[in-house]
Amino acid sequence: MFSFLKKYNTLPESYATLGIDMHSHILPGIDDGAPNLETSVLLIKGLMQLGFEAFIATPHIYQELYPNTNETIETALHDTRKALKEAGIQVRVEAAAEYMLDDHFEQLLETTPLRTLPGNRALIEMSPLSAPPNLDHILFRMQLKGYVPLIAHPERYLFVKTNKARYHDWHDRGYELQLNLLSLTGYYGPSVRDLGLYLLKNKLVHFAGTDLHHTKHLELLGKTLKDKNLQKLLQYEGLNNKNLFQN
Ligand SMILES: [Fe+2]
Repeated sequence: MFSFLKKYNTLPESYATLGIDMHSHILPGIDDGAPNLETSVLLIKGLMQLGFEAFIATPHIYQELYPNTNETIETALHDTRKALKEAGIQVRVEAAAEYMLDDHFEQLLETTPLRTLPGNRALIEMSPLSAPPNLDHILFRMQLKGYVPLIAHPERYLFVKTNKARYHDWHDRGYELQLNLLSLTGYYGPSVRDLGLYLLKNKLVHFAGTDLHHTKHLELLGKTLKDKNLQKLLQYEGLNNKNLFQN
């Protein structure tokens, strides 16, 4: 079991093996993440101390709760970069988005270029309780338009628990899967942890992200770094975080 893990002489003592955090809510005041610029800078500094060297922030675009647009995200990104510069912190921060699969998303998909991660990857999420009935149709439409559907935290979609073949099906269809680092520590509960371990054991994971929203997440990422399941993820050689900016 887990024989495909990288062989380290010592366990990773930071998140530097990942390099890039590609899922977080560190931009100020536009979703349920950092409420203001001061917190954004604090969170970014904290993540850098844990070993991350660059960030692709992914604010929610969720029409019902966080109706973000390119403009709101660009403004928040610009303000964050300015504040980091003023604080003397040199770090690369980019911004994509985390799209909720709702009716609004289906409209956006047909009418507007999506905010993607490198490689034309579009980070998408859905309800933890049920998938949209037309999920595969939506994701197929994305692929036809040249996007790679990148499914955020598939381990949190508990509706898959009784039908794990679905994960393999997603993988076979060319969707990429992003695990949350804290999922494997049990932070979101034992079911989520076990689904995360299942994905890892079956080599279905392409990326790992913090999905950081607030200082509690930051603290936990520091405290649980030595967690044995989290270490398995950090040592998994199939992660593509480091190569993201080479796409
Ligand atoms: Fe998120």
